[in-house]
Amino acid sequence: MTQRARRGAFTLDAAVHAAASAARAAWWTAAGRATRALVRPTRGEQAKAFEPTTPPVSMKRLRAAYFSAFEKDARDVAAGLYPARPIDVDPAQAFRQAADVLSDARAVDTRRRAGSGAEVRDVSDSKAYPTYYRQNFHYQTGGWFTADSARRYEAQVEALFSGAAGAMRRRALSLLARAWRGRDHRGLAILDLACGSGGFLKDLKATFPRARIMGLDLSPTYAVRARDAAGAPVAQANAERLPFADASLDAVSCIYLFHELPPRVRPKVAAEIARVLKPGGVLAFADSVQPADEPDLARLLEAFPAFFHEPYYASYAKTGLSGLFDRVGLEPCGQDKAFLTKALVFTRR
Ligand SMILES: C[S@@+](CC[C@H](N)C(=O)[O-])C[C@H]1O[C@@H](n2cnc3c(N)ncnc32)[C@H](O)[C@@H]1O
Repeated sequence: MTQRARRGAFTLDAAVHAAASAARAAWWTAAGRATRALVRPTRGEQAKAFEPTTPPVSMKRLRAAYFSAFEKDARDVAAGLYPARPIDVDPAQAFRQAADVLSDARAVDTRRRAGSGAEVRDVSDSKAYPTYYRQNFHYQTGGWFTADSARRYEAQVEALFSGAAGAMRRRALSLLARAWRGRDHRGLAILDLACGSGGFLKDLKATFPRARIMGLDLSPTYAVRARDAAGAPVAQANAERLPFADASLDAVSCIYLFHELPPRVRPKVAAEIARVLKPGGVLAFADSVQPADEPDLARLLEAFPAFFHEPYYASYAKTGLSGLFDRVGLEPCGQDKAFLTKALVFTRR
């Protein structure tokens, strides 16, 4: 294919990708609004107790941040960094997923009002899992333990972020694809750490079809879900003790894990990532933006742990991530952000 033809194909891909993203964004914005209207999370005791210290967020600023996620995503498809997402819009499935999120919303709200976040210990109080893990993160029904939770997770995240979750995660994909541009991917081993139900694993597989892609998650039900969704091997294991030999992986991606880890566990997981990466290997990291990255959006970040069960988010918001990874031998070499997510890329010294 000539360079011109290739550019044309990328532009067409980007247009298709942007159209599919717009449909997804509209759908999940509507589903998210319906869910919030049903349970009104900003009313009631918690709202009264929430005393913000940061200024309100301007809607114009919020909208600009939101659209930046889609703009960057389409730009990277057009640049050939990663392929357009397949048009897998299935209206019946989209209705089912939204109905599922809505039907669970009242249960989530009941737990939110009770404010304990530990109801999941009725489902699994197994000592095989660390205590910090046996909580209802986001007040999610079943915590990380049930098949229903794993099935519902991706739709809940999309409803929360108005359809921008995939585009935000792909900031990390963009950094990894840039770091590896022009490189032969055959035989490279990539681990998606804390892969959840497999959304990002699918993106990795589509972008690096010749690489060896694996996932890992501590949840047995999420691990099964991710394996089935992405068609990749997924290990069920704790990120604090990765079942991989020293210097055995070429890249690790890690999306939205660190804000859910207690402060004492973050350095352990960072050290494990550094241990399993080869010298020159890459960590592609993405998680919530921190208030210092987005002072204009700080009110939203302050509200998040006030309205959701996010016991470690406030400490995450103050964590110096570059220093955390630098101390274990991972050198910061790039960053990006979109809407409420920041992505960082590190190289193993
Ligand atoms: C917010 S979800 C993020 C999932 C996925 N990476 C994404 O982009 O949506 C956090 C995930 O981290 C997993 N997790 C939490 N603590 C873990 C640990 N110590 N070891 C492995 N996985 C863990 C949870 O089971 C859950 O799937």
